[in-house]
Amino acid sequence: MLKTINNFDLKNKRVLIRVDFNVPISNGIVNDDFRIRAALPTINHCLESGASVVLMSHLGRPKGQVVPDLSLIPVGEKLAELIELPIKFSDNCVSEDARDVSLGLRHGEIHLLENLRFHEEETDNDLRFSELLSKHGEIFINDAFGTAHRPHASNVGVSKYFLHKGIGFLFEKELQYLSSVIKRPKRPMALVLGGAKIETKLKLINKFIDEADIIIIGGGMAFTFLKAKGINIGGSLLDESMLSTASEIIEKSRKVNNRLHLPIDVIASKSLDDINSIKEFRIDSIPKTMSGFDIGSATIEKYSKLLMSSKTIVWNGPMGVFEKTEYENGTLKIAEILTEANEEGSTVIVGGGDTAAAVKSYNLIDKMSHVSTGGGASLELLSGNRLPSVEALGG
Ligand code: 3PG
Ligand code: MG
Repeated sequence: MLKTINNFDLKNKRVLIRVDFNVPISNGIVNDDFRIRAALPTINHCLESGASVVLMSHLGRPKGQVVPDLSLIPVGEKLAELIELPIKFSDNCVSEDARDVSLGLRHGEIHLLENLRFHEEETDNDLRFSELLSKHGEIFINDAFGTAHRPHASNVGVSKYFLHKGIGFLFEKELQYLSSVIKRPKRPMALVLGGAKIETKLKLINKFIDEADIIIIGGGMAFTFLKAKGINIGGSLLDESMLSTASEIIEKSRKVNNRLHLPIDVIASKSLDDINSIKEFRIDSIPKTMSGFDIGSATIEKYSKLLMSSKTIVWNGPMGVFEKTEYENGTLKIAEILTEANEEGSTVIVGGGDTAAAVKSYNLIDKMSHVSTGGGASLELLSGNRLPSVEALGG
């Protein structure tokens, strides 16, 4: 049985919490604190119950190397500011020193561990590494919903070493909301997918193509589909290894009433920073020397019509390189259209670190039905797949 944090007596206990602090950072500053804020209820509950807290997270994909730009130090600074408490920090999540800091914690104190993915054992779900992590706490709480779909040492392996283990408030809230929607979605149901992590998402589209009525594609991943259709995409982002899967999906879509919708125009330029060359092109006339970085105006209009006729909308992944104002229009417009759809009674679920960050920067979080801290995780759940981290906790 899956337990939640409410099942435990936390007084004078050391609670090891897996959080998802994989947040956008530039020049050592956290650009968006949505995921950090989302973890506060669980952290505060532990502190108020008389426990001490050890926090562990990944940041980015350093692939087992120590990458200074992916240090969690800026996250610790942000957390200290939000929670108004000092944070102890260890620069190696499994060193003896780090373990000693945890053992010496007094109730009400917080210890943040350095990026788990500085060790390749994390993504390998290595049991020896899991065991070392487990030394930090007496109770294990997983509140990293955003990472729930990854079978890693800090959320799967580590569970083996705890008798007392469960999920935190954020994880619980996400599970409850997303499972209730998927049981009886109002139709038509639309899925809007963007971003660049095409590999994770393609497998899910393959599942969703039977479930969703409309699948709308934007962002970097759109170009692999366009290329698979034989369209010249110039220098746009392409994942060659995914071309055949993309073709299969296009073929499958033909058989089920053309559910898959791709951009019909793009905003392109010679390179991301060459803003003087920015121009809109029809999808069949992208010059060889140009790369697409956002969806174009005709695409936005087409997608708007499709979305305004949908009753359940799941959005995951930005429509373009929204971090740069020149390419944020597609993402901003989709966010505005979804606000309108929500006002008219549709259920709108937004998921993913980047997408949530975009929606937050437009001050539209409260205008959606649910903004999930998980991108891949929420899609996995909505597509009916099991989450390995939930199974590891007996759920
Ligand atoms: C996310 O941002 O989707 C989660 O933090 C998981 O990150 P990952 O895709 O690098 O595993
Ligand atoms: Mg992400």
